[in-house]
Amino acid sequence: MKHLLNILDLTTEELDDLIKTALDIEANPEKYQDKCAHKTLATLFFEPSTRTRLSFESAMLSLGGTVLGFSSASASSTAKGESCADTIEVVSGYVDIIAMRHPKEGAAQVGIDHSRCPVINAGDGGHYHPTQTLADICTIYKEKGRLNNLTIGVCGDLKYGRTVHSLLACMSRYSGIKFVLISPKELALPEFEKQEFIKNKNIPYEEIQSLEEAIPQLDILYMTRIQKERFLDANEYERLKDSYILTAEKMELAKKDMIVLHPLPRVNEISVKVDKDPRACYFEETRCGKYMRMALIMKLLKEKNEPINIEIKDTFVGDKKCANPHCITGTEQELENLVYKDKEGFIRCAYCDSIVK
Ligand code: CP
Repeated sequence: MKHLLNILDLTTEELDDLIKTALDIEANPEKYQDKCAHKTLATLFFEPSTRTRLSFESAMLSLGGTVLGFSSASASSTAKGESCADTIEVVSGYVDIIAMRHPKEGAAQVGIDHSRCPVINAGDGGHYHPTQTLADICTIYKEKGRLNNLTIGVCGDLKYGRTVHSLLACMSRYSGIKFVLISPKELALPEFEKQEFIKNKNIPYEEIQSLEEAIPQLDILYMTRIQKERFLDANEYERLKDSYILTAEKMELAKKDMIVLHPLPRVNEISVKVDKDPRACYFEETRCGKYMRMALIMKLLKEKNEPINIEIKDTFVGDKKCANPHCITGTEQELENLVYKDKEGFIRCAYCDSIVK
């Protein structure tokens, strides 16, 4: 069955089709108002959300479907100790499609493994957030008219920022891309993502700590929040939380046609004074998110029983447990030590992709 775990589960041709559909939905919403009549979406959010959950719900309602679900783990039987696997097994018997968010990396894979219907990963810890990438690329396409030949700066928490990981994975497939990685060294992009999405593809990139130095060359500046909830050490968060603040003065250093994206929520990393700048596209991005999620829901329901054409990891049961403290294997006790061998020969957890030593 088709699911959406990782943005790489969709080919660039499929992304083009989703953008085309999303733009048509925006222009002609009435054409789509009954496309999902008699279908039900479950939004299972074990972690807080505003945009992703509500845009999924708004998307399904605008398609003529219905919605059920929960908005926090404490409002579900998770609070009584029920596993994520059992929750998905049960709910997938009530609905046609599931969008799930969970604080643990690899939770969406558990959902997929236990579901009777398509599952969309709406964010699994610091791992991936593919539907945010759908919103990002639709906005880039609308604003720049292309997805290639772009210098893309990603700024802030590149370590825990799941939207950054999905965006880099996605954009690494287009031609003429350069990445500028702007972060404090403590929040640098993990080596796995750097190897997989940048070095292995010979994509030009720079790692730089100064936003002011990086900004003049950028076509896109993707700002991110420092992900407080992922830090294991509160003092470390306090030390790093104000690393970057995009101000109107810094925007003066940027190209006239650079665009600013941010997955939101914002804390203080973009001054509200920047909101009035025509290059600030982060609220437009939230609207694109709804249309892209409408297009995705229709696609997955339509193609539910078609053969899948994605690379499946060749997994086996390893003899060591994943040591990543953010991995779902630490809380779902019944999970086996499933691992796979990556292209460099490292053994990685099949859920969170961390190296299993
Ligand atoms: N961008 C994003 O995922 O926002 P929410 O956490 O509000 O869903």
